Parts: sequence; C-alpha cells; structure tokens
Amino acid sequence: MADVVLWAGAGQIGLAIARRVGYGKKIIVGDKKIENAKTMAEIMNNAGYDVTPIETDISSRDSILNLIREGQKYGEIAMLISAAGVSPSQAAIETILKVDLYGTAVLLEEVGKVIQKGGVGVHISSQSGWRMPQLGNEIDELLATTPTEELLSLEVLQPENIKDTLHAYQMAKRCNEKRVMYEACKWGERGARLNGIAPGIIVTPLAVDEFNGPRGDFYKNMFKKCPAGRPGTADELANVAELLMGPAGAFISGSTFLMDGGATASYYYGALKPQE
Ligand SMILES: NC(=O)c1ccc[n+]([C@@H]2O[C@H](COP(=O)([O-])OP(=O)(O)OC[C@H]3O[C@@H](n4cnc5c(N)ncnc54)[C@H](O)[C@@H]3O)[C@@H](O)[C@H]2O)c1
Repeated sequence: MADVVLWAGAGQIGLAIARRVGYGKKIIVGDKKIENAKTMAEIMNNAGYDVTPIETDISSRDSILNLIREGQKYGEIAMLISAAGVSPSQAAIETILKVDLYGTAVLLEEVGKVIQKGGVGVHISSQSGWRMPQLGNEIDELLATTPTEELLSLEVLQPENIKDTLHAYQMAKRCNEKRVMYEACKWGERGARLNGIAPGIIVTPLAVDEFNGPRGDFYKNMFKKCPAGRPGTADELANVAELLMGPAGAFISGSTFLMDGGATASYYYGALKPQE
C-alpha cells in the first residue's frame, strides 16, 4: 500500500506543492472542474509522479468523502494539500462562503478523521484575512469551533453583515486561519500536523482574473509598492510548504504563515497604508 496525498484544487499553487512533496506517493487530485484535475494529472504523470484525477467539489461533504474514499483505495492518507478556492472576482458572496469558508472547514475536518500518524496538511488561505480589523475573541472562537454544518448560519456571515465579495473572501480566509488552529489540535491527537500559508499575490489564473477584474489597479499597485516590488510565484510558496510538510517543520502545527512580499506590513506601516 502507498502513502496517499489528497490534493484539492488543481491550480498552480497546488501543483507546485504536489511536485515538491508528492514524489514516491500516490496522489489523488480533486477539482470541481475535472478538466483542471486531468490536466494536472497529465503534467505530473509525464514527470514521473503517480496521479489520479477525480471530480471533487469541496463545498459538498459527500464529494469530499468521495475524494477520501478514492485515496483510501491505495493506502493511508499521509498528506493533504488544500488549495481549492475561488477569488472575489470569480464568484458571488454565497459561493465564496460556501467554498472557501465552509468547504475548507469540512475538508480539514474530514481529512483530520483519517490522517495517518505522522501525516501533514497544508491549507492555502490568503493575506486578505490580515486586511480586516480584529474581529474579537468571541467571533474568532465561533469561526474556529462552530460545528461545520452551523458555520454558514453565524450572524457575522449573514448577507446584511457582508459588504461585498472581497469582504466575504476576507472573512473566509480569516476563518481558515482559525480553523487551521482548531483542527491542528484534533490532528495532533492522531499524531499529525496541520498548517496554513497565507499568500500575497501569486501569479496564477486566479490572480490573473483579479488583475483583469474590478480591483485590477488595486492589485497591481499592491505588488509594485510592497517591499518585494513584485508578485510571488507558486514555486516560492512551495518552498514554505515543503518546510511545513517535511521533517524540518516537525515542531510547527496550527500556524498560518503570512507570505506576501511584505504587502501586509506595508498596508499597516508603509507605502500601501490606505490614505485617510
Ligand atoms: N493566486 C493568488 O494570488 C492567491 C493569493 C492568496 C490566496 N490564494 C488562494 O490559493 C488557493 C489556490 O488558488 P490558485 O491561485 O492556485 O488558483 P487557481 O485558479 O490556479 O486554482 C484554484 C483551483 O480551485 C478549483 N476550485 C474552485 N472551486 C472549487 C470547489 N468548489 N471544489 C474544488 N475545486 C475548486 C478551481 O477549479 C481551480 O482549479 C485559493 O484558495 C486562493 O484563494 C491565491
């Protein structure tokens, strides 16, 4: 039996991570767009990996369970790469909350029930979650611990409290960070670790949609003026994922690593600080 990697979200970020950690393992890649999963599987299989694509919608628990069952046909679940998501320019508020917030929470929960001893997971949230004021201990705790099926009923997520798709995305990504902490405790009981990475702008089809969307100028300004002066690449992100998922990261769990070329620092204390 093989060590199995479950990879949700057949995008550029997931691909970069899977190439770094997936050699010698059985990889199952799930995506709502099966053609994306098939494309990634073909690229990886032509590069010496062993990848099976499967249609997976992380906003459906049944679909997540199906992804897990597919993986279990080959062995125990050793790794989770959680890199599925939609961005503020790609989807409506309801979809963003259903996929990025609820779907991620269910994925971390369900994989946490089966992850093997010594297993590791990484979830991709976003610097966007750092852009809102603090929500306070009470709301943080609700986002972290509310049973998954009740999450979308939280008052703070109701339509009258969500301004626009960017706000929905920020709430989802803030929730991801809290959820990674909560689930890391449970994963720890199985001898497994779970962390997150909160990237800034990483050039992928999702980011390109943002550059061409209503907030395009905002994003271009962000990477020009951030300390790095450029957007990041998925391979740079995979450097951090490799650390978190490998033996060098053995003492790291429940953390979300902000990795944004300094954009958040600049938003609070530098050239990107919003003018009053
Ligand atoms: N690219 C960036 O600048 C950036 C920055 C911060 C955070 N992120 C986050 O990184 C993650 C990966 O994004 P990416 O940049 O690699 O984008 P991408 O568009 O290359 O990949 C995302 C993949 O997720 C899939 N997907 C969307 N909804 C899904 C669903 N319901 N179930 C299963 N799959 C679904 C898409 O079909 C796509 O293949 C996202 O959560 C995104 O929010 C990206």
